[in-house]
Amino acid sequence: MKKIRKAVFPVAGLGTRFLPATKASPKEMLPVVDKPLIQYAVEEAVEAGIEQLIFVTGRNKRSIPDHFDKAYELEAELEAKGKDKLLKLIQNIVPPHVSCIYLRQSEALGLGHAVLCAKPVVGDEPFSVILADDLIDNENNGCVKQMVESYKQHAASILAVQQVEKNETDKYGIVSLKNKTDNEGFISGIVEKPAPADAPSTLAVVGRYILNPHIFHFLEKTQKGAGGEIQLTDAIADLLADEQVYAYEFDGVRYDCGSKLGYLQASVELGMKHPEIGKEFTQYINSLKK
Ligand code: UTP
Repeated sequence: MKKIRKAVFPVAGLGTRFLPATKASPKEMLPVVDKPLIQYAVEEAVEAGIEQLIFVTGRNKRSIPDHFDKAYELEAELEAKGKDKLLKLIQNIVPPHVSCIYLRQSEALGLGHAVLCAKPVVGDEPFSVILADDLIDNENNGCVKQMVESYKQHAASILAVQQVEKNETDKYGIVSLKNKTDNEGFISGIVEKPAPADAPSTLAVVGRYILNPHIFHFLEKTQKGAGGEIQLTDAIADLLADEQVYAYEFDGVRYDCGSKLGYLQASVELGMKHPEIGKEFTQYINSLKK
């Protein structure tokens, strides 16, 4: 079985739910407390043993490569001022054994199309797809790391899933399982953003995938689907004709940071746990309740 060495980060979306904040800068650079969303995602990938980070970027995304690049002036300045702790913080974002590759999706044609853009770099090996606007908090065992273990066990493409409210199915890819009573298992079907009345279940795919490279074969043929976009979900539905796909119920708290509410929830909860300001911030939050 091939090791999962590569992660694709599709970061070329328009982020319309966060306008005007995302007019000139990517939503993946929005900070939760003191780190941009994309850094949480990269740290989760590195923790899972990923060695190559493949960013599929679009217009207005230049700050992402800058964030992971060496910042000469800033480093020299911090060094001269003896600010060693801050210096370490900005130097160690990507460890030396991990490389970054940037590709452009020139038109935001959909998540499926963004993943297809990574084909020449991914090649013929299984890979992970990580959507940075889904922040998944699990301090000791990140979601991608859990999924790599699940991949070793099931030798199939893996989708991270969680239960959602019935009235929210039209925001997600929804899976049905072969064994309908379970929350995890091999899937029998998948559909993008079904209306609550048509949804086969309330088990939703969140922004973490491990995919066999065979998915590219289907992505190349996928037509526009829900929302007029080329959907990864539709290619996964086609993949099911050839191979099994496993829905994995991850352990951790997921915040939908592509939405304002989810983003604020992540900021408050991670703020309350933050080593530097957590205690004071918690006192502040508690004082608001009085
Ligand atoms: P979203 O559905 O959240 O779309 O994309 P969006 O454009 O980013 O945001 P809204 O809905 O307009 O507010 C899910 C993921 O797929 C990426 C996004 O960057 C995000 O990580 N994506 C989406 C692309 O990379 N390219 C696309 O063409 C579409």
